[in-house]
Amino acid sequence: MKKILLTGVTGQVGQELQKTLVSIGEIVSVNRQDLDLTKPELIRSAIAELKPDIIVNAAAYTAVDKAENEPKLATAINGVAPTIMAESAQKLGATLVHISTDYVFNGQNHLPYTEEDLPDPLGVYGKSKFMGEQGVRNNCDNYIILRTAWVYGSRGHGNFVKTMLRLGAEREQLRIVADQIGSPTWSYDIAEHITQLLANSAMGTYHFTNSGVASWYDFAVAIFSEAQQLGFPLAIKETIPITTAEYPTPAQRPAYSVLSKVKISQTLGNYPPHWYQSLKTMLAEWRSIIL
Ligand SMILES: NC(=O)c1ccc[n+]([C@@H]2O[C@H](COP(=O)([O-])OP(=O)(O)OC[C@H]3O[C@@H](n4cnc5c(N)ncnc54)[C@H](OP(=O)(O)O)[C@@H]3O)[C@@H](O)[C@H]2O)c1
Repeated sequence: MKKILLTGVTGQVGQELQKTLVSIGEIVSVNRQDLDLTKPELIRSAIAELKPDIIVNAAAYTAVDKAENEPKLATAINGVAPTIMAESAQKLGATLVHISTDYVFNGQNHLPYTEEDLPDPLGVYGKSKFMGEQGVRNNCDNYIILRTAWVYGSRGHGNFVKTMLRLGAEREQLRIVADQIGSPTWSYDIAEHITQLLANSAMGTYHFTNSGVASWYDFAVAIFSEAQQLGFPLAIKETIPITTAEYPTPAQRPAYSVLSKVKISQTLGNYPPHWYQSLKTMLAEWRSIIL
């Protein structure tokens, strides 16, 4: 039976990994109180003591805008901690799974980003995540880096879907950015595909999101349409598309962050579910949780 150390268990993806990874081995989950990733010595000693066969790092500093004012903290959690995990995994001959982001790219592409495209992060968060990727690649032989994007889920922290459901219940009109394009991705599908990669011992860097593309505006319209059918309380009457310039944020975001799923699809022999289908499943699940 393989021993798996899982970090970030209170997060969106971590919560789902706790379910999917049981098919791979025995999971030892750690939260921030058990293992604070800003403390390098604690990371080293925890891994050396536990001697896991697999480390799955689902923890991260994910506050993209806040990161602009907290570069040291974002770098410690997203850049330094994965590097130390990689060094420790290498000493044990263990596998390290690390999750990264579309924000390592500058968003100037017009075709889906492949694993071979050169990163050029726009902000502190993206830079810190790219540093983590490099730390993993340079220090560990057996690694899986999975880049994903636009994550939402029922469990764990807040996300765009939950924000839309809250705002849509309070307001009749919402203005949503329509000139950023990506692929909304359900946290369960991410966990499922990480588990499949591990089961196939498919090491390397992979892009994974749900299939299809959308703007945040498209995504919001879909959320309201499906939520209405499921009987969520909604006051929203009008969703208005706006530009990024009309909704300034501290961190610059990539305009186009579609990731190519060709490599992971060829590796696993299946194509990721469409984002609309996964959104419907997540909303039904969320409705049953909050009922
Ligand atoms: N969210 C997105 O849209 C998105 C997009 C692309 C890629 N990603 C990547 O996907 C992965 C999972 O993201 P997610 O959405 O599941 O993140 P999340 O919901 O924000 O969860 C982050 C997790 O990291 C933990 N954490 C934060 N600081 C920590 C520290 N100092 N020590 C230990 N644990 C700490 C959090 O613990 P607490 O609960 O205690 O805060 C939480 O469990 C991350 O690598 C992220 O960069 C996310």
